[in-house]
Amino acid sequence: MRFIFGILFIMLSPLSVKGQVADHKSIEYKKEKLAYKVGIIIGSTRPNKIGRQVAEWILTQVQETPNVKFNLVEIEDWKLPLFNEASLPIEGPKLYTHEHTKRWSQEIASYDGYIFLTPQYNCGYPASLKNAIDYLYIEWKSKPAAIISYGFQEGGEKAATQLRQVLECFKMKLTSIMPALTLSSSMLNERKKLKNTAADFKPYQENVKSAVTELAENLRLEH
Ligand SMILES: Cc1cc2nc3c(=O)[nH]c(=O)nc-3n(C[C@H](O)[C@H](O)[C@H](O)COP(=O)(O)O)c2cc1C
Repeated sequence: MRFIFGILFIMLSPLSVKGQVADHKSIEYKKEKLAYKVGIIIGSTRPNKIGRQVAEWILTQVQETPNVKFNLVEIEDWKLPLFNEASLPIEGPKLYTHEHTKRWSQEIASYDGYIFLTPQYNCGYPASLKNAIDYLYIEWKSKPAAIISYGFQEGGEKAATQLRQVLECFKMKLTSIMPALTLSSSMLNERKKLKNTAADFKPYQENVKSAVTELAENLRLEH
């Protein structure tokens, strides 16, 4: 009898170990799911834009935010022509016909929330950003987001205000804090790139961190 129990024990042991491994894996998976994914959307598509530098500076300020993973999203990389789908985005992704729309949809749907980074162009935000937004609907709908603007006049506040109105259309949960980074020509080198983001944007450090803390809190409340 003891012998039979012994054999059974040996046969079942690997199974129970296997079971533990499976449990461990599923716990790890759940842990990963707890990390919210936020896309930092770079609104400018100019070849020599400073938007990328601003986005990289923002990333260095916020990347330690607990449970949030950030990813830079260059609208330029998605090669979106002027909006050219026949269906209305509100009718849903099943009606998308173009590969560029399907790819953009998948990218945006993969995020739990967003930081919209916009420059100010002629007292508004760039057409490239509006075009990228207009391609989709459900992918943005009701998600938490923050707006960060930059420009020579009041840090691009006008662009941020207009963008906020558009994002409210999607019932996005927007942060009350909207950092606006004021540029000056002394910040730029001869190639019109930012010389020293660490020093020049230091006054905005706390404001940017507070906006992203608010965004992270909204992500937790939404899930
Ligand atoms: C078409 C255009 C219009 C602009 N209009 C404004 C403006 O109204 N107010 C402002 O403060 N800056 C304005 N600027 C300056 C931009 O804010 C500045 O060049 C900034 O670097 C643009 O961001 P980017 O380099 O990421 O494209 C304008 C720039 C461009 C290209």
